[in-house]
Amino acid sequence: MSRLIVISNRVVVPEEGSPVAPGGLAVAVDATLREREGIWFGWSGQVADEPPPPVHIERGSLNYVITDIRPQDFQEYYYGFANRVLWPILHYRVDLAEFSEADFSGYLRVNEFFAERLSPLLEKDDIIWVHDYHLIPLAQSLRALGHQNRIGFFLHIPMPPPDLLIALPHHLELIRALTEYNLIGFQTENDAGNFSRYLTRVVGAATPDGRHYHLGNQHFRVGVFPVGIDTERFRRIAEMSMGSTEAMDLEESLAGRALIIGIDRLDYSKGIVHRLDGYERFLEKYPEWHGRVTYLQIAPGSRQEIPEYADIDAAVSAKVGHINGRFGAVSWVPLRYVSRNHRREDIAMVMRLARIALVTPLRDGMNLVAKEFVAAQDPADPGVLILSQFTGAAAELGAALIINPHDRDSLADAIHAALCMPLEERRSRHQEMFSVLEANHIRYWGQSFVDALTRPGRVMNWLSNQSTN
Ligand code: G6P
Repeated sequence: MSRLIVISNRVVVPEEGSPVAPGGLAVAVDATLREREGIWFGWSGQVADEPPPPVHIERGSLNYVITDIRPQDFQEYYYGFANRVLWPILHYRVDLAEFSEADFSGYLRVNEFFAERLSPLLEKDDIIWVHDYHLIPLAQSLRALGHQNRIGFFLHIPMPPPDLLIALPHHLELIRALTEYNLIGFQTENDAGNFSRYLTRVVGAATPDGRHYHLGNQHFRVGVFPVGIDTERFRRIAEMSMGSTEAMDLEESLAGRALIIGIDRLDYSKGIVHRLDGYERFLEKYPEWHGRVTYLQIAPGSRQEIPEYADIDAAVSAKVGHINGRFGAVSWVPLRYVSRNHRREDIAMVMRLARIALVTPLRDGMNLVAKEFVAAQDPADPGVLILSQFTGAAAELGAALIINPHDRDSLADAIHAALCMPLEERRSRHQEMFSVLEANHIRYWGQSFVDALTRPGRVMNWLSNQSTN
């Protein structure tokens, strides 16, 4: 069997029991790689003026190979083009994009640097799977070094409609770099459809079916592979966390109040301020719940040197203070706000004890918190998921209470409805969502992407049809 070489900007070298970096990619890739042999290559999270040779770390059948990058690269590639241009634009926030040519050069340079460091480790038959927006030009850099392997790309975050994508400086260059991959995967049909419209209308690619594309000499495929979770494993972690000291402490501190949770990386795309507005509206509109609920928002920070992240941090803190000042009583704090990273066990425990989860991003590629919350529930007495219509997860979890995060009344009413929801309805909604998660286990995600990448047959058929027609 061919080795699988996975490349992502963020690499998580596992250390059981330690706090995990938040973010869907790390969770999904980690779960996929547990299933097979290979290498996970990427950035170490460290900078060095002269990066030493990559470090190899062995864990079971997996080898992690991580490299430092230079401080200037870190600024231009990670903080600059990836997170101040691509991240906002791909999340439909063109207004927040801050472009500079220096950052774009840094982005291309780091992709070349990664390709050079990875190149000596590659074997002819390796299957290469590149993850996320940091690494769009990586296949191009690998091809330039002579690697003819099958290379796939998966975008964990949204792909916006062409009208937004064309606001991205150098969009043609970047999308052409994407076509160097054999397979490009998206989270939802909506994302793949947006990309398809860009390909056909803006760059003039041809496609017979929205899956196989032909542009100049390039032939590539586009597929939809919604990321799942390791449902059973997460369910077990949540179940086993009951009875721990942490669980008892939390329960005791709730004193019988219904727990509402929000768990997000602190990011403007997550809609935390809008969510707090909705919670405030709920407290205004349904005063009968005062003193009977506790909302716990966990939001660890990342990318903190970026001004928009400092802004969101300040806005969330101010809003939390405002709500607690306005509605709190000497014996009741309506809202608890925690920004520390937590161990997975603790997150699973908090999810299992919650009556409601608020997963209300303004835009999100998938959102695995929504899926983990469903997996963590006690099926006999499950909590209710309130989910934004603008997450990839909403395409699969239609049995959640789906809301529009821009409409604070819609969120306020959904919280009230969830608190009043009869047990039977909670159970049937939960069961429906749990079945979806079981059917789309993380194992199938990895398998189906790699299968599609290694099976070029249908593209060839289409091309031979073209030439005979
Ligand atoms: C999202 C992205 C990932 C990223 C993660 C955490 O899930 O899709 O690529 O790793 O956020 O962000 P960070 O910048 O801390 O790696």
